[in-house]
Amino acid sequence: MGHSLLCLLGLFLLSTVRHGNTEDLGVKATLTADRLTIPAGGSVTLTCDVKNSADFQYVWFREPHFNSEKTAVAGESKRELVTSDAGIYSCRGHKGTNSVTEESNSVTIQETGHGVKITVTANSTTIPAGGSVTLTCDVKNSADFGYVWFSEPSLNSNQKTTVAGESKRELVISKGGIYSCRGRIKGTNLLTEESDPVIIQETVSNRITVTLQHSWSQIFTGETITLRCEIQGGEGKVWKYEWTAPNTNSPPTSSEYRISRVSVSHSGDYRCRGSSDYLLTGWSDAFTLTVSSSKPRATLTAQSSVIPAGGSVTLSCSVEGSAGWKFDWFRRDSVSSKAQLMRGNEANRVISVSQGGLYHCRGGRGDPVYYTEDSSDVTVVETFPSKPTVTLQPSWTQIYSGETVTVRCEI
Ligand SMILES: *[C@@H]1O[C@H](CO)[C@@H](O)[C@H](O)[C@H]1NC(C)=O
Repeated sequence: MGHSLLCLLGLFLLSTVRHGNTEDLGVKATLTADRLTIPAGGSVTLTCDVKNSADFQYVWFREPHFNSEKTAVAGESKRELVTSDAGIYSCRGHKGTNSVTEESNSVTIQETGHGVKITVTANSTTIPAGGSVTLTCDVKNSADFGYVWFSEPSLNSNQKTTVAGESKRELVISKGGIYSCRGRIKGTNLLTEESDPVIIQETVSNRITVTLQHSWSQIFTGETITLRCEIQGGEGKVWKYEWTAPNTNSPPTSSEYRISRVSVSHSGDYRCRGSSDYLLTGWSDAFTLTVSSSKPRATLTAQSSVIPAGGSVTLSCSVEGSAGWKFDWFRRDSVSSKAQLMRGNEANRVISVSQGGLYHCRGGRGDPVYYTEDSSDVTVVETFPSKPTVTLQPSWTQIYSGETVTVRCEI
């Protein structure tokens, strides 16, 4: 009994030694800083505030870095402390030697170039359709910080807003945009510099298709073609395009993919997708391009190889297996003469001729124009009026016995 009383007494005595002459004022000092980073060759002003602070003096504490020893800053007892030394600062106010305040929050002051490095990392830069992405605000000694998140609907939109109600180190988002964060030193309103922004794209469900500019069923080596990427419902936005294609290292970034003089090696699947600010479409279905190695030949057929007297026959030109052709027509008098272009770039594959000769044709399409091989020659003959005429020379109307005349038969 007497033994434990002695113990209690001992404890009591110890307490009086610690607090005996000191009155805890029950108020907390508040430390503010005009900035968190010491500019090169400059300083930071710290202010220690206590309510009803008349006649107060101050003690300043500094920890050179996290988890190092905290010591009082020698010779500083004013409400303001101007310092050029980095470290973690706190303060306390006191009246005389007896009445002290609680110690303030601590504030971390960085040297220039050693500012609190803060970054945002994302577990993916693309939000899958209907999914989400986790952002993490990374800062050294993260336990000392709370966080503020910012989002911007697009770069340089000047519409940066604070993400309401989010102060954790991780932020789960399901909307695309530009995100950044700042650390808030715990127990203060002091914020770190802002992190670099991260751009998170959101997958949109717009339908996207690849089509060939001309709906030609067959493409031949040497033709120039254009593929188009179309985003349905994507009007009114500026899109950037991405292509996957065989046989290229540098696909275009526009909606049109032009290939000059295609070859068989361009055969394969073409896909595209679009992005606009933070929106990203899925990949289109593949458009399969097949390039034929052969050059097609035009075929000329004549309705008849004989032109009736005073009449005409129709010739028709065709290219098998594909569409979009226009036709050029040539004629020559004989095998040994040179062919002349009669008509060029005719949309109609049928023409009517009334002159005999050797005819051939070819097809052409695209820009620049791609030509088929010439068709074989087709010979068409004219029928001359078959009735011969008899003429008399001189053309006297009456002839008398003994006169000499010539009777001529003309075809
Ligand atoms: C990223 O985070 C989100 C939300 O927490 C999660 O649903 C998703 O599966 C994560 N993605 C990856 C690639 O880890």
